[in-house]
Amino acid sequence: MKETKSIIFVCLGNICRSPIAQGVAQKYIDEKKLDIIVDSAGTGDWHVGEAPCPHSVKVAQMNNVDISNQKARQVTKEDFTKYDLVVALDDSNIANLKKLGATNILKLGTFGYEGTDVPDPYFFDGFEGFDKVFEMIDTCVKNLIDKKLV
Ligand code: 4NP
Repeated sequence: MKETKSIIFVCLGNICRSPIAQGVAQKYIDEKKLDIIVDSAGTGDWHVGEAPCPHSVKVAQMNNVDISNQKARQVTKEDFTKYDLVVALDDSNIANLKKLGATNILKLGTFGYEGTDVPDPYFFDGFEGFDKVFEMIDTCVKNLIDKKLV
């Protein structure tokens, strides 16, 4: 594997879950002084250019992770060769990524939550549930980096 490693987290809209994963990973990488590039994207294009959803910004901030400057973008085929690891947040993201031609897709939930989906909080009732989503992502992202990239 090349010297600098890289990882991209992919969900549906790139405004709720994968921005948290990117933020958690970036903070962990910075703290441990690791040589890893991290990014995130969505399979859908509805929110391209938007900042993460306010509940994700809030739960991240409560955990000392700043994701407020991120901007949503749609995943591209180039991402599949550019990044060493393509990590999906749920099974529907994996199916969408396969349709786009991705092959080596990891599922984030296999790194701490027995392979479960990180639930899509977009239609949650308010802030409730975002803390659980953060906890799942936080645990799995750190385990993933330790296991696959260090
Ligand atoms: P995310 O959540 O995939 O975690 O960013 C969603 C955001 C937007 C939509 C769905 C899920 N949407 O349908 O617009």
